[in-house]
Amino acid sequence: MSQCNENDEKSECAAKIIVLVGVGLMLMVVAVMAFAAGEPTGHAAARWDPLHFKPAIEQADDKECLVCHAEVLKPSVRALSPAGVRADKAIAWYQTLDVYSDNQDTFHRRHLVGELAKKYMNLRCNTCHQGHDPRDEAPGTSKTAQADGYTLRKQVDPKTCLMCHGQFNYEVMGLPGPWAQHGETFGNNCLMCHEGIRTARHNVNFLKPQAIEAAGRESADNCYGCHGGRAWYRIPFPYPRHAWDGMDKDVPDWAKNRPTGSEPRFLLDVWIPPSVAPAAAPPATPAPAAKTSSRKAKPQSRPAVARKASKSSYVRIQTVKGSQHVSQI
Ligand code: HEC
Ligand code: HEC
Ligand code: HEC
Ligand code: HEC
Ligand code: HEC
Repeated sequence: MSQCNENDEKSECAAKIIVLVGVGLMLMVVAVMAFAAGEPTGHAAARWDPLHFKPAIEQADDKECLVCHAEVLKPSVRALSPAGVRADKAIAWYQTLDVYSDNQDTFHRRHLVGELAKKYMNLRCNTCHQGHDPRDEAPGTSKTAQADGYTLRKQVDPKTCLMCHGQFNYEVMGLPGPWAQHGETFGNNCLMCHEGIRTARHNVNFLKPQAIEAAGRESADNCYGCHGGRAWYRIPFPYPRHAWDGMDKDVPDWAKNRPTGSEPRFLLDVWIPPSVAPAAAPPATPAPAAKTSSRKAKPQSRPAVARKASKSSYVRIQTVKGSQHVSQI
């Protein structure tokens, strides 16, 4: 024992050891108590950061998430797989389409910073991430588990994906069959019909409606890309059916259960041209926001930092404001 030297009396040495052991034990007890009673620290604290859960996540700005998750937007695709397969030679069928460009990239980059993503989307972290319980990925299973907004064993609600990755619903359009076979008949042009039908579209905070209409004029592939061309699902998405100028008053049977407005969470920060909601429009379900700015619908609890950071979407609103595309019939 280095603490006990030759000059020490035996009893003095024993006393030193007892003191040291005592101090050590006390430190351990303090540490255990702090751990049991206190807040989690480090990785655990970050994992249980309130920003991961409702309600904070609803108002989170991407910048707040990226403080900790910068890696999701960093290019990280290997040029060569460990087995030696070249990424640029391992192309999936959909990556050969005209509207698909650039090298292989990660999922998050394709949706947030890729060329197409920037062209006509404005997805945010919380468009897809609505919070989930990392301890038990089933909603509502305990007092503390978030009760809604996520799907059993999924971190992201697949319905969100279905909006842009569902089948082309040719049945409700009265087309004889899938677009790939019958597009020719309609001049490969969605706008042949959609210049006048379902014209109140894409006024949500994760899309750029003007850019989409312009792209649709260039090529129907741009429209088809989100409405059947990248269908990872076997079913079409049941889109909300917004009233449009010249719409028939009779609601077809297939549309009887459809909402008449987009999900309220997609309307935050969106300014919708009044021309889109005709005077005779039926009272939209949860979307009176369709007529005016829904900014006032924002919960009061929005953290200051997020409030400051919503600027980018506001810029977008101003661009939409002058938009005529939705009312051109
Ligand atoms: C204070 C740092 C911090 C912030 C801010 C933060 N996260 Fe996290 N996040 C973490 C940590 C740490 C983990 C756990 C990682 C692990 O265990 O591998 C995590 C895990 C996750 C996971 C995976 C969860 C799981 O169960 O595997 C997702 C998805 C996620 N975060 C999304 C977000 C989103 C979206 C935001 C913004 C709303 C956000 N995070 C903000 C630190 C943070
Ligand atoms: C298009 C929808 C979408 C958007 C937008 C999105 N994510 Fe994700 N994210 C996902 C999906 C899907 C997963 C995989 C979930 C699973 O494994 O169950 C995921 C996984 C993650 C994970 C866990 C591990 C990983 O890296 O794969 C983190 C962390 C994460 N996302 C953070 C973010 C952040 C931060 C943003 C905003 C900058 C963001 N995500 C935007 C859909 C999205
Ligand atoms: C707002 C529309 C939109 C939503 C919502 C959306 N995606 Fe996508 N997704 C796209 C577009 C557009 C592309 C093509 C991007 C490109 O070519 O750069 C794409 C590409 C992809 C790819 C191909 C990526 C690659 O590198 O090949 C996958 C896989 C994918 N999405 C899955 C999902 C999943 C899973 C979700 C839900 C968590 C989701 N998407 C939500 C529009 C969307
Ligand atoms: C022959 C005319 C016609 C063409 C061509 C056409 N559509 Fe449609 N589309 C319709 C009609 C009619 C509806 C249903 C209108 C209603 O709600 O009563 C519709 C509805 C839709 C819907 C909403 C479906 C739903 O379930 O609510 C989407 C999305 C859509 N079309 C996209 C497209 C895209 C993308 C293209 C081109 C690839 C296209 N359409 C080409 C006539 C057409
Ligand atoms: C980046 C993906 C994307 C592209 C590109 C796109 N759409 Fe959409 N479209 C969506 C989403 C998501 C919705 C549902 C938005 C909502 O919740 O209101 C939608 C809704 C619609 C609807 C239903 C309108 C209603 O009543 O609410 C029609 C019709 C439609 N799109 C046609 C088109 C046409 C025509 C084009 C090309 C000019 C096109 N889409 C391009 C993603 C896309």
